Amino acid sequence: MEALALYDGLHASSQPVIISFLREFATSHIADERLRAASLHLLGLGKLVRPTAVIASARAFSPDIALDACLHTASAMEFIHTFTLIHDDMPEMDDAKVRRGVPVVHIQYGSDIALLAGDGLFNLAFAAVAKAPNMAARLRERILREITSAVSQVIEGQARELALSGKDATLKEVEEVERLKTGELFSCAIVCGALLAGAGDESVEAVRRFALLLGHAFQIKDDLLSATGEKEIVGKSLEQDEALQRPTIVRLLGIEGAKRRYMEVNAASLHALAKLDGRADTALLRGLHESLVSRQK
Ligand code: IPE
Ligand code: IPE
Ligand code: MG
Repeated sequence: MEALALYDGLHASSQPVIISFLREFATSHIADERLRAASLHLLGLGKLVRPTAVIASARAFSPDIALDACLHTASAMEFIHTFTLIHDDMPEMDDAKVRRGVPVVHIQYGSDIALLAGDGLFNLAFAAVAKAPNMAARLRERILREITSAVSQVIEGQARELALSGKDATLKEVEEVERLKTGELFSCAIVCGALLAGAGDESVEAVRRFALLLGHAFQIKDDLLSATGEKEIVGKSLEQDEALQRPTIVRLLGIEGAKRRYMEVNAASLHALAKLDGRADTALLRGLHESLVSRQK
């Protein structure tokens, strides 16, 4: 089967399971009614790229690994990602109005509870990994270390983006922000999938190199969609990058320059993926790559 069809099949079959898990886990951990509603508001409405990437990566290294064996870790990625979006959309950050096709959490429920919903989802990521059944203690500890490291870098990336807004950032600075705020959580998902499948150190580092480049390409595409996409299709506010003079590749290189850089980083990520041939069945990861290249939202 074609790589993209394989990935799309995995996405379609795992999506309902991931969404149920996210929503039931959150519901059972939050008693306060308004906090629960705010926490559930965006959960499961996104593309679920990161949790699906966990499973795709796990299957690349261990084709028969069960969805259940990946579910807690996969969901942790989405809890963290959703927390970062709730806070990123707040007036103190990007001041967005729409996310995942619906009003942002702070507009729907108020900034006070939006802050707490973000905090709570962040915490649920650790609860999910802590409660993953049948996970060896060393693996759990390793996954927690990967997650804490990724989150530190996301926060660092967001802070550097603020510091560089309105300034003339260099390409190196812009690409560092992209790696920190997006690439690191992306690669955390793919690395954790490989760890769940029992991949060895060399394979884990090889897949990390691929994933960082894929995450980098993902953020360039996000910037291009912010500059050229249709709000109704993308499902979120798109004007912030320009209005707030964020240090994006589009601001630095223009749309055509950003497209060229996008092609280069995409090619580099495929090259890095090819290095995994013989260690893993890379079809699902190639499918993930293709699905992200062709995305319109
Ligand atoms: C958007 O991420 C924010 C970035 C880090 C670029 P996604 O494009 O994965 O958003 P959702 O999860 O589908 O809403
Ligand atoms: C989203 O970044 C937040 C993180 C990556 C932590 P952006 O501000 O670039 O993404 P959108 O456009 O709001 O989704
Ligand atoms: Mg934003």
